[in-house]
Amino acid sequence: VSGSSGAGARFAEVVSHPNIALAKYWGKRPGDGNVPATPSLSVTLSGLSTKTRVTFDPKLAHDELTIGGRSMSGAPLARATEILDAARKAASCTQFARVESQNDFPTASGLASSASGFSALALAAVRAARLDWDVAKVAELARRTSASAARSFYSGFAELVPEESAARVAQVAPKDHLALSVLACVVTEDEKAVSSSDGMRKVAAESPFYDAWVSFAARSFADIRAALLAKDFEKLGALSERNALAMHATAQAIGVFYMQPTSLAVLEEVRRLRARGTLAFATMDAGPHVKVLVPRASKDAVVATLGAVPGVLRVIASEPGDAARVVAEGDA
Ligand code: DP6
Repeated sequence: VSGSSGAGARFAEVVSHPNIALAKYWGKRPGDGNVPATPSLSVTLSGLSTKTRVTFDPKLAHDELTIGGRSMSGAPLARATEILDAARKAASCTQFARVESQNDFPTASGLASSASGFSALALAAVRAARLDWDVAKVAELARRTSASAARSFYSGFAELVPEESAARVAQVAPKDHLALSVLACVVTEDEKAVSSSDGMRKVAAESPFYDAWVSFAARSFADIRAALLAKDFEKLGALSERNALAMHATAQAIGVFYMQPTSLAVLEEVRRLRARGTLAFATMDAGPHVKVLVPRASKDAVVATLGAVPGVLRVIASEPGDAARVVAEGDA
């Protein structure tokens, strides 16, 4: 409330957006450190957000995590604690934390809630612990727990490129670089059966196509990056769709299906739109939702078309969005 000293409770609240990879991170380098096996390039989405408040509180006996008001334990709490521990260690802080997170879209269903969730958590933890870190350092903290989260620290288009024992993350182009919309077709409110982390580990260990994917992904990333910088929407869309289909093929080869019948119906509708002359391209992550890239000028017409596909619950339109940011902080 007020009058708290440095040893009192302190909070920070952050808003962050998910990002959708046009060139996918799918697979990890062997060893520790959560280093991606493939370079990735993403667009941050304005239409979806996560708000996370971290409060370090001397009265707590352990870390607490709620997502959408629901108390979490097990793996989600353990991953949050990993980030909190790093912030506590750097700040020589011994207090436990209350983490309250809210998504305005379905959690853990392949709408990239881990990207917005872990970026928001890392920034809120660092600021609540009064650490004076630059963006690259906070992004690196988030990446070690969930690599795609590192890209949500940059507005517009971002890349995450593996290096020796870490990965470099940077903005590739600002949000007004290309007038595109990303239409997320939500096909279920359920959580996905296989998380990205588990899916990519299994694929790397078992898929006959994994090595081919890793070498394709490097070329595909370079081509996608060049098409983006050239502002060639058609090429960018076509290459991104191929990249996503190749990623899903590695998983399908070992029986890991993220697609549901409605996902296939949306992919079919996107092909039909193209056959009729509308530039529209699809991408999918480790979940059943389909994200459709369109030039901003055709957004309204395509939203209506996709919304009418049987099984599509709703279509959430986004533009390239802002970076993770602190919206409130102070003594609790
Ligand atoms: C398919 O970043 O969720 O969305 O590092 O294990 O937490 P961890 O994985 P995560 O994987 C994202 C995979 C993807 C593609 C992408 O976003 O690049």
